[in-house]
Amino acid sequence: MGSEQEKKPHAVCIPNPAQGHINPMLKLAKILHAKGFLITFVNNEFNHQRLVRSQGSDTLSSLSSFRFETIPDGLPPPDNKDATQDVNIVLKSLHETGYTPFRSLVSKINASDTPVTCIVADFVMGFTLPVAEELGIPEVLLWTSGAGSLILYDQYPNLIEKGLMPLQDPSYLLNGYMDTIVDFIPTMPGIRLKDIPPFVRMIQPGDEFMVEFAYREIERAKSASGIIFNTFNELDCDILDTLSLMFPTCYAIGPLHLLEDRTVSKSLASIKSNLWKEEPECLTWLDAQKPLSVIYVNFGSITVMTHDQLIAFCWGLEKSNHSFLWIIRPDLVIGESAVMPPEFMAATSERGLLASWCPQEQVLSHPSIGGFLTHSGWNSTIESISSGVPMICWPFFADQQPNCWLSCNKWGVAMEIDNDVKSDEVAKLVIELMDGEKGFEMRNNVIDLKNRAEEACTVLSGSSVCGVAMEIDNNVKRD
Ligand code: UDX
Repeated sequence: MGSEQEKKPHAVCIPNPAQGHINPMLKLAKILHAKGFLITFVNNEFNHQRLVRSQGSDTLSSLSSFRFETIPDGLPPPDNKDATQDVNIVLKSLHETGYTPFRSLVSKINASDTPVTCIVADFVMGFTLPVAEELGIPEVLLWTSGAGSLILYDQYPNLIEKGLMPLQDPSYLLNGYMDTIVDFIPTMPGIRLKDIPPFVRMIQPGDEFMVEFAYREIERAKSASGIIFNTFNELDCDILDTLSLMFPTCYAIGPLHLLEDRTVSKSLASIKSNLWKEEPECLTWLDAQKPLSVIYVNFGSITVMTHDQLIAFCWGLEKSNHSFLWIIRPDLVIGESAVMPPEFMAATSERGLLASWCPQEQVLSHPSIGGFLTHSGWNSTIESISSGVPMICWPFFADQQPNCWLSCNKWGVAMEIDNDVKSDEVAKLVIELMDGEKGFEMRNNVIDLKNRAEEACTVLSGSSVCGVAMEIDNNVKRD
């Protein structure tokens, strides 16, 4: 390394190894790089190989000041080299085995010409905090989910104390109990039990780990130098105020993809984090569609559904009579690959396009997109809001339930589909979203938020711009 690089601060960025976490961490790393940081980006080995296959190793190694390293996740690699790893299992394994390889990696970098000056870790990668502490390096955490969900995870002990959770048995899911309003959650009046992240309901085997984990990680995160959120003040002001009482140093610096667009050079922008290969033909197809005429359907990287649910979405889209772009991941349907009914394919061949993965940010900002049928993952939610696209939400797990509730009830930019999805309801909501009065109102609301998101990312003066990189820079360890 030349002496120029030796003078630069050096951030080691480590995401939780899942698509919805790698994306925002890579954007943050690129923004820091544009602010003058050297970057070492740490993947688990399995995902890194997937990245190499989808992006090409030349792209990933194109800049000496932006390097990739790997640590093992402690699990045998899945038979299918493009399988989505089970997020809970990987996280558990990393917490049991990740400390030693991560410490060795940071120590190795420290022995080089460009020692580590700060660690930027995903909030749920708390095993990195003792490494930072022992080596005397400041660490900031990135919360990649919706900010509101962090308040809900923190309320878990309160939910137990008041006897609302855990549920005694699955019948509680069916008898209307989940519609009970929880009236003590700060900033979310009117939120129902069904809007609380599902794993804190504690009815599925394996959920106990996630509950204890969420609770422990929240406590552990209090020792970090700061918490970064992929949101903007104008959207989540009251939620951020509440979080500031839990974590004194909170930074809202989103939407990260807008900030990336405004900050990052072309050579760096070409480094992408998609684990699946994108099908750019989607954009050519969209070019041929009328403005605001297409409903975009995508359930992210983790959601799975039954064959019956897939069929309900098929016929709902068919009955809506609207054009659609539907991304069907190879592992979207539980236990099998998605087989679409031939009658559905024939009936929609003129107005529907199916693909397996797409460049979502470009799709959402395409003028022909009029609505988004989404699982309410936080990245999808913030990308949709900042593209001015109203949503229909079918949340699956984790923060997606509160993201859906906030989108529908607080921001007025979405409508919810019942978990037990039926084709008539899908058709009704798509028609309302695309042509109805409520759809019109939601579009106005979301365009207003899109404008605010853009203001938040305005260079020099935006609320998401002022502060964080400078703050990290001031906090980095210097010899
Ligand atoms: C997960 C959780 O489910 C989510 O709730 C949490 O907030 C983050 O981690 P995921 O389910 O994949 O993520 O959803 P989401 O947060 O929406 O992230 C998906 C990302 O993949 C988005 O950035 C989206 O732009 C990208 N994507 C998705 C594509 O680029 N192309 C696709 O075809 C699908």
